[in-house]
Amino acid sequence: MVSHIFVLNGPNLNLLGTREPEIYGSQKLADIEAALRAAAGDCTVDFRQTNSEGELVNWVQEASQTAQALILNAAAYTHTSIALHDALKACNIPIYEVHLSNPAAREPFRQTNFVAPCARASIAGLGARGYLVALEAAFETVS
Ligand code: DQA
Repeated sequence: MVSHIFVLNGPNLNLLGTREPEIYGSQKLADIEAALRAAAGDCTVDFRQTNSEGELVNWVQEASQTAQALILNAAAYTHTSIALHDALKACNIPIYEVHLSNPAAREPFRQTNFVAPCARASIAGLGARGYLVALEAAFETVS
C-alpha cells in the first residue's frame, strides 16, 4: 500500500511557466503540485524543488527511508550527476523518472542520463501529465 510518496524536482524547475514555455509548457510547478495532490487521494505527497545537487542527494536518501515511491524530475542533474546516480542506486524504493520534454529528441548533451538506469520507468515528453502518469504507475506497481 502506498501511503507516502516523494516528488523531487531539480534545478530551474522553479521557473516553470515562464522558462521556455514552448518546450516546458505554461503550467507552473505549483500547478503540477496541486494536480498531483488532487490525484493522490489518501496518499501523502512530499513535493519539493531544489537548485542544489547536494540537497537533491540528501532528499533521495530521505525518501528511501520514509516513502514508498519516488517520482523524480532531476532536470539538468539527470545528465551530469554521478552523486545523484549513486544515491538512486542506494535508494530502496521504486523510482519513476519524469521529464516534461523528451530529452532523447533534444541536444547531444541531454543524451547522457544518470537517472534512467536506476528507474523502474521513465516518462518523457508528456508535459505536466507525465507526473500524473508516474503517480498512477507508482500506485499500480507498489500498492
Ligand atoms: C527536463 C529536461 C532536462 O534536460 C532539462 O535540463 C530540464 C528539464 C524536463 O523536464 O524536460 O531542466 O528535465
